[in-house]
Amino acid sequence: MLTIQLDGPTDWTGFRLALRHLISEGVEPSDVRWQTGTIEHQGGLFDADTRAMIHPHELPTPPAMNLPKGAVDMAAVAFLHAEPARFTAIHTCLARVAADRRHWHDTLAPERVAMEQFVKQVRREKHKMKAFVRFHPVADALGNERYLAWFEPDHYIVDAVAPFFAKRFAGMRWAIFTPKGCVEWDGTALRHAPGCASPPFALDTTDSGEWLAYYESTFNPARANPDQMRREMPVRYWKNLPEARSIPRLLNEAQARTTTMTEAPGEARERRAGHLPGRPTRQISPDDARATLERAVRNCQDCPIGAAATQAVCGEGPLDAPVMIVGEQPGDREDLIGRPFVGPAGSLLRDALQHQPWAQHTYLTNAVKHFKYEMRGKRRLHKTPGQREAAACSQWLDHEIALVQPRCIVALGATAARSVLGQSVRIHTTEGQWLARPDGTPVLVLTHPSALLRMAPEQRERVEPAWRAAFDQVRHVLDNAAASEHA
Ligand code: URA
Repeated sequence: MLTIQLDGPTDWTGFRLALRHLISEGVEPSDVRWQTGTIEHQGGLFDADTRAMIHPHELPTPPAMNLPKGAVDMAAVAFLHAEPARFTAIHTCLARVAADRRHWHDTLAPERVAMEQFVKQVRREKHKMKAFVRFHPVADALGNERYLAWFEPDHYIVDAVAPFFAKRFAGMRWAIFTPKGCVEWDGTALRHAPGCASPPFALDTTDSGEWLAYYESTFNPARANPDQMRREMPVRYWKNLPEARSIPRLLNEAQARTTTMTEAPGEARERRAGHLPGRPTRQISPDDARATLERAVRNCQDCPIGAAATQAVCGEGPLDAPVMIVGEQPGDREDLIGRPFVGPAGSLLRDALQHQPWAQHTYLTNAVKHFKYEMRGKRRLHKTPGQREAAACSQWLDHEIALVQPRCIVALGATAARSVLGQSVRIHTTEGQWLARPDGTPVLVLTHPSALLRMAPEQRERVEPAWRAAFDQVRHVLDNAAASEHA
């Protein structure tokens, strides 16, 4: 039995080095024991005989491995899982692929399935961290404000998610403390540190009035599904979320509120407008929430493209729309007028929707709220927003989805699909398919109308009829959703 000592559970460099050696020497995965110094708060850095341990850098330099990039990338994500069995699973999978690259296509091989499971759980946890970290303003000794957050992830994802927060909150000084590693941003660089057992600051969730009001205003009792909520926002996160204090009460009220909402047509809208007596106490109305959101979007400086655009283009449509359509970003015309889908792509979209019975009840928006372009002479030519820009904007889309709570979403193009689903998808392989957002909302992925406008006439003739027909599916999904709500 060989024992390899890594520099910590996130020591991917050491793990990779050791793995190359082990695979080139043909060492069986079951003959290797992996030890990690811990970055967690518990003591007991070493629990085995340290003399028998080998550090990856003590091993002879291994030959390079000929592995598909996808395999290495997937292994790097699986490696962040907290389950000790990940080491052996990755070793087994990569050893097989190194012996014959064709094994990488054997997606049903048990070791590949195991690795995919780890990857899936790590990705989910990363998504949760992006959604559930809440910063608390804390003044330091000099009176400077810092934003501190406490989070308890299941896996070693802190370092991997930190760049996301650095981009989104580039102008703030913040730190995130977790038992599985901490990270600090001083405005210019990220600094990583070992985990801590408890938050090193007073976790006061009482000073969150505005956020709480916003959350309560976006809580739709008719769609409250406690099981799904618990799946999406697992109970273990609740204690650190200011809004979670409201959840048990909101769920208790949900039944009563749903009953009142079904009393008479139009009543929900009346109540939202505050015209009916006995309405549930809400601190801000959905319309106020929309105005707050739009203000925040207009002031957003989380990425550079806003500086060049004329204005932010916010979503448009009824706040109780059952369908939300998400495009990529405003185009030249949208940027000038300040409304989504009013240019050539919008004309094509509106034309395709004209016979759809739900078209009037659609909320139209974009993944990115500002127009990104480059100048060609006097013309402003569309430029695809980068992943960072889309990630910086995804908070606004998430808020819109929380506010509208559509029954289904149509994502037009890859940028929209990535922002809505929280992961990249290939349009040509997912076109016309229904996928699910992490919160369970069904998402239809379709080609962006601008892509159709750019196609050669023969190709467009071939593709467009199916694209138009795909919108018919939305009605079936709405019918099914209505049927199951009334069942
Ligand atoms: N393309 C989009 O994705 N959105 C718009 O609003 C216009 C064009």
